[in-house]
Amino acid sequence: MLNYIGIGNPYNLGQYGVEKNAKVLQRYRFIHEGLLRIAAGHLPAREDWDLKCALGKHLYEDAESANQWRQRITELRTSPAVLNHEPDATLSLLMEELIQARNDLELVVGIYGVVRPALLASYKKHMANTQQIVDQPTVRILRTMILDLEDQIAWGEQMIRHLEESGIYPEGAEEFRQNMLTFLTASGGIDGLEPKIPMLPSRSRSHEPYKLPLKSVRDPRKMGPATWARTGVAIPPDDPVKMSLFSKMRVRQEEMTAAELIAGVIYSQKNMPWEFYRDSARHLWDEVRHALFGQAALESEGIDWMSRPQYTSDYDVNALKIPGAQYTWLAIGIEEGAMKRPGKAGEYEFCRDEAKHPLMTQFQDYDWADEVVHANLGRKWTPELIGEEIGYVREIAKKELEHFWHEVRNAQEQWNEQKSQ
Ligand SMILES: [Fe+2]
Ligand SMILES: [Fe+2]
Repeated sequence: MLNYIGIGNPYNLGQYGVEKNAKVLQRYRFIHEGLLRIAAGHLPAREDWDLKCALGKHLYEDAESANQWRQRITELRTSPAVLNHEPDATLSLLMEELIQARNDLELVVGIYGVVRPALLASYKKHMANTQQIVDQPTVRILRTMILDLEDQIAWGEQMIRHLEESGIYPEGAEEFRQNMLTFLTASGGIDGLEPKIPMLPSRSRSHEPYKLPLKSVRDPRKMGPATWARTGVAIPPDDPVKMSLFSKMRVRQEEMTAAELIAGVIYSQKNMPWEFYRDSARHLWDEVRHALFGQAALESEGIDWMSRPQYTSDYDVNALKIPGAQYTWLAIGIEEGAMKRPGKAGEYEFCRDEAKHPLMTQFQDYDWADEVVHANLGRKWTPELIGEEIGYVREIAKKELEHFWHEVRNAQEQWNEQKSQ
């Protein structure tokens, strides 16, 4: 179609005026931000490795989606002041109950079996029924989000099947699914436009707040035990260069613990500007990607990493710290620290010039680029989190590192002793 630049149905009257549209988009924004927070709260607590990875990717996509809705909402004669409001008490209840999932299966059923499919159905309906010319900016956003949601749901359906067939959770998650559906129906669906009766449902589990675990969880059926020591590969090669290369691969794979630390920060740090949560969601997904770098490098060499002990120090050693201290430890202590040579540059050059491993060289190239971004995020946010200038924050980071290395050194000595016996 040459005219209307291919935009369809130009004469149709849309079902959304400006005010109604803004109200519905406000609900979409709230759902994406809720899913971000729920995934962050659960990432350290869930067992399945692939689920942890998915939570990291999808919470980043939720942060980007929420961000787009935030912009679009303020284009619809709506004050940015409403962006932090909860649009609907029952929708809030849905999110408060969803975070109360007690195992991997319940969480996956709630997120990928109920909420995301309902969101996708709403988005398709919105895209079809809005006036295509007046609301083209919304339609464009919806198209990209539909692509994300379809991928997320396809992955989630596989994971639900996998967990159900594995029989790990024999009690199933049907009751949990039904509860989620009840809350969703009571709020008139995702967009609030479905028929509803004037009755507010009661809480099921959310009378108590969700608590982050004090120790991060690793899959007890498939993985080695959690440890605060670096344990490398099962059969270390004689060649010292190869040995150092394989150790690096494992250190990358073990970056899940950094992702979990940021997850804890996102979940427990209240009242920061939205931009902080968006930046942190990306930061978290980067650390999950780094773990995937390691996983892919190890697997490309045929090395079994999963049955090895799993390093969980970043999260566990810092678990009792306040989120500002946790974030300072990581972003200033570790990440800004890695900008000094040899640091991240040295790791990249080692893989390129000494180990001559093309895949690992590419991974380290991007790992270094990501860490430059993370050090910048550290300098951007820690002064606000701590309420002090960056010089003071760096002094705090030094103390946090001292405490951390003390704990980890002890664990490493114990491991080395055990190994030599
Ligand atoms: Fe990293
Ligand atoms: Fe990083």
